[in-house]
Amino acid sequence: MKKFVVVLAAGNGKRMKSHLYKVLHEVCGKAMVAYVVDAANGTQPTKIVTVVGAGAEQVEQTLAEKSDFVVQHQQQGTGDAVLAAKPLLAKEVGVTLVTTGDTPLFTSATFNALFSHHLTAGNAATVLTAKPANPFGYGRIIRDEQGHVLRIVEQKDGTPAELAVNEINTGVFCFDNQKLFAALAQVTNHNAQGEYYLTDVLEILRQQGEPVGAYAMSDFSESLGVNDRVALAAATKLMQRRINEAHMRDGVTLIDPERTYIDCDVKIGNDTVIEPGVVIKGDTTIGQGCQITTGSRIVASHLGNHVTVTASTLEHAKMADQTDIGPNSHLRPGAVICYGAHVGNFVEVKNAEIGENTKLGHLTYVGDATLGKDINVGCGTIFSNFDGVKKFHTTVGDHSFVGAGATLIAPLQIADHAFIAADSTITKDVSRYDMAIARGRQVNKPDYWHRLPLADSEEWK
Ligand code: UD1
Ligand code: CA
Repeated sequence: MKKFVVVLAAGNGKRMKSHLYKVLHEVCGKAMVAYVVDAANGTQPTKIVTVVGAGAEQVEQTLAEKSDFVVQHQQQGTGDAVLAAKPLLAKEVGVTLVTTGDTPLFTSATFNALFSHHLTAGNAATVLTAKPANPFGYGRIIRDEQGHVLRIVEQKDGTPAELAVNEINTGVFCFDNQKLFAALAQVTNHNAQGEYYLTDVLEILRQQGEPVGAYAMSDFSESLGVNDRVALAAATKLMQRRINEAHMRDGVTLIDPERTYIDCDVKIGNDTVIEPGVVIKGDTTIGQGCQITTGSRIVASHLGNHVTVTASTLEHAKMADQTDIGPNSHLRPGAVICYGAHVGNFVEVKNAEIGENTKLGHLTYVGDATLGKDINVGCGTIFSNFDGVKKFHTTVGDHSFVGAGATLIAPLQIADHAFIAADSTITKDVSRYDMAIARGRQVNKPDYWHRLPLADSEEWK
């Protein structure tokens, strides 16, 4: 039996009050619609068709080759949206699962269970239902005395008795593909919203004598639909728990998982310990036995094994095994910290490689540079890389010593085993085994105190 999936993602999402199209709002680093399409892909369907409308280009870009696309030009309801997929699906024989793009928590397991239930029951249509604590806003499942599904009634159309029902339409269905498109042709917009409701297909099929059923899922939270920012935060909380639990089961220690924020694609090795108040985003990988302390934010970065990050920010950076950073330091794009290197406190590194076992202890800026191994960079050193127009590069060779407070004005080549005296402003290249010193000489003036204005003041007597 061939499987197809239709993802409805053309609605305006007015309730988000956003410039960003609703289904592109992210939950733990991934667009909501991408979760839906990934879960759908997990059921190995022959084809996935995503129905797009306003903001179509961005949705197509986000999903790229994961889905086919059709455009619904005017948002006239969920039934009309499924009809937009007709050119790609109408001729197919098989089962079509329809789902919405604003329900990021559905899993492949649930979609698979619905497919199986639908096929085993031999239904023409099966709706996935759930029982939330508060059914307000959802379509209600209306059954007869024997429990057969009669129809679905929307919040805005229901009588008080119908709205008292707490079994709701999760917005996910399986249909016999041919029967779905035949029934959609008969859906009208005679309802409170003047829309073509997909939900009406169930009643149409039942009146034709087709078997129509429901499959009740036990965990309502998976079906949470995001229509506004409050629901977006609720979905993010649930996804965060799911992500964090998976890491803990894989051997990562999260001291307080409720206060640890890890995006969905992050990979973390076992025996890594993460303190509360840590944010790890994007395509980040962290090795084994690392320590990440409170106040760290790590974005699209790669950390080896036994790395310590203390209250620091890393963006598009790399830290090899046995390195450490912080507190209060910043790795910006292109920072590469090689094996055993030490980045201490108040250090910023941008587009620079810091060689093996090199030390940047304190208050240093390194931009556009290549540092060899076993270098000591003293406190307050500045790699001055910008003349207001262009950026220039500095190289420092292995085993060199850069004294505290040096300013290295790029472009500059400092060889291996070079010694830069503290507080020097270096503008010329330095050769192997040379010492460079460039600073004013100290002059001591004997008894000068008595010639100073303060000498007459009471305060300094
Ligand atoms: C819908 C269901 C409701 C169900 C709920 C579950 C209908 C009529 N109602 O209501 O029974 O309980 O989902 O979350 O189906 N969309 C389009 N084109 C349109 C209209 C909507 O693509 O013309 C898309 C939206 O982008 C969204 C999905 O369909 O992803 C659902 O639309 P929405 O307006 O959120 O429907 P609900 O009011 O939540
Ligand atoms: Ca919705």
